[in-house]
Amino acid sequence: METSNTAQMYINEFDPVNYYQTYYSSGKGGIAREWTDFALQNLHEIFGSGGVKGDILIDFGAGPTIYQLLSACEVFNSIITSDFLEQNREQLEKWLKKDPAALDWTHFTKYVCELEGNRDTWEKKEETLRRKITKVLKCDALAEKPFDVPMPAADCLISCLCLESPCQDLEAYINILKKLKELLKPGGHIIIQSILNCSYYHIGNSCFPHLSLSKDDVEKSFKEAGYEIVNIKVLQRSVISEMEKSDSNGYYSIHARKPQRVRLH
Ligand SMILES: C[S@@+](CC[C@H](N)C(=O)[O-])C[C@H]1O[C@@H](n2cnc3c(N)ncnc32)[C@H](O)[C@@H]1O
Repeated sequence: METSNTAQMYINEFDPVNYYQTYYSSGKGGIAREWTDFALQNLHEIFGSGGVKGDILIDFGAGPTIYQLLSACEVFNSIITSDFLEQNREQLEKWLKKDPAALDWTHFTKYVCELEGNRDTWEKKEETLRRKITKVLKCDALAEKPFDVPMPAADCLISCLCLESPCQDLEAYINILKKLKELLKPGGHIIIQSILNCSYYHIGNSCFPHLSLSKDDVEKSFKEAGYEIVNIKVLQRSVISEMEKSDSNGYYSIHARKPQRVRLH
């Protein structure tokens, strides 16, 4: 498949360490903090007691990040994480191997332990997550098959801040959702969290294009892709500064399911 301009830009310009320093390093306030509070609290609710659980979870387009897996790792046996870029997969491998140069996520691990009422066990949680991640795979949302290896049917797929990156229009977003549905067991869960009405985000001097979606666009896309929506949550952006980082005006979290049976029309 031909490499699109956006894909080439990601390959050439997405610097995982700069991304981490811009949005995820310890002590960040502003939109970074607003996003991580929103995302981590939702994931805590979704995967918390009595919530979604199962055997296999796929994290699609993880980038160099693991924060999004800190709740799920307690309730899944095996986690397959993935990203489009080699430089991001390298960072994930470094974290798994406890390389001294790995990115530090302990502030988020402690935060999630606090949500769970167990702050002291953050080292144990990181060990649990390391043990549960069984594979770090290459994924490509635009390829006919998002993974180039055979995949086990998953109980759940999550993806944060990813699907709008490779998409040029709503049709492409719907197509990706349809492809992701094929990776799920009947009744399987999909959880997508991202930002609303955002046309770009910056890492240093690099400005990455982003498909701008409203809450209605997201809802309609999931319906059109054949999912049953369980819940959709939005939060308006309250930080009016930092428009140079991104022009998003809010955040969304959608939880949906692949139907148990194929509908016959
Ligand atoms: C803004 S980052 C999000 C990273 C991480 N999920 C997070 O929550 O911070 C966007 C991600 O989309 C990925 N991406 C870009 N093009 C992609 C494609 N064609 N298929 C899958 N992922 C892609 C990038 O590699 C990058 O990791």
